[in-house]
Amino acid sequence: MPEAQHKLRRSLALGPTNNPKRLIVAMTGASGALLGVELLKEMKNFPRWETHLVISKGAEHTLALECNLTRNDVSSLATQTYNAADIGAGPASGTFRAEGMVVIPCSMKTTAGIANGFADNLILRAADVTIKQRRPLVLVAREAPLSPIHLQNMLSLARLGVTILPPVLTFYHGPSTIDDMVKLILGKVLDVFNLEIPGFKRWGELE
Ligand SMILES: Cc1cc2nc3c(=O)[nH]c(=O)nc-3n(C[C@H](O)[C@H](O)[C@H](O)COP(=O)(O)O)c2cc1C
Repeated sequence: MPEAQHKLRRSLALGPTNNPKRLIVAMTGASGALLGVELLKEMKNFPRWETHLVISKGAEHTLALECNLTRNDVSSLATQTYNAADIGAGPASGTFRAEGMVVIPCSMKTTAGIANGFADNLILRAADVTIKQRRPLVLVAREAPLSPIHLQNMLSLARLGVTILPPVLTFYHGPSTIDDMVKLILGKVLDVFNLEIPGFKRWGELE
C-alpha cells in the first residue's frame, strides 16, 4: 500500500477490523459438489465476507457429473477464484488475511495431504497455513465406508483442532428435501465462523 494511502487510513482510524472478512473455500473431488455450491451461495448473504475459492481437478469432475456445472459457473459465486496449481496465490501465505478455511466437500486424498503436511497444491498449502496460523479449518470429509487410513488421518487432524464435519444424513429436524439436509450441514459449517443462515434448525429451537 502506498505511504500516502497508509497515512490516510490511519488518520481515518481505519484498522484491520474495517477490512472485509475472508473465508477460504476449497472444493475437492469427493461426492457432494452441491454442498460447496450452496455454501458459496449462502456466503453471498453476508456482505462483509469475501469468499476465496480453489477448485481441484477432481471437483471439476464431480461438479459436471453431479450438478451439471462448470468451474466458471461456480467461480461466478465467489469473490475470487484461484488455480489449484497456483502455489504462489494469496491463500498460500500466512500473511494473507483470512478468518479460516472450509474444504467442502473434502476427499480422502486431500484429507491425507492435509494430515501429513503434503502441501503440493494451493488447497493443501492453504489448509497447511490455516493450521499453522491456528485459524479454524473445517473439512466436510466424505467417503463411505471409511478405511483405517481415512480414520487415522481424520483423527490426527481432529486432535490438532481441525473440525471434521462429514456430510452425514440427519433425521431429527424432519427433513423432507435434499435442500433441508444440505441446510443443516451448511448451518453447522458456518456456525464455526459465527454465521447464522436462514433455515438452519437448532435443537431446542425446533417448532
Ligand atoms: C464421481 C466421483 C465421486 C467421488 N467421490 C469420492 C468421495 O466421496 N470421497 C473421496 O474421498 N473420493 C472420491 N472420489 C475420488 C476423488 O475424486 C479422487 O481421489 C481425487 O484424486 C481427489 O483429488 P482432490 O482431492 O485433489 O480433488 C470420487 C471420484 C469421482 C469421479
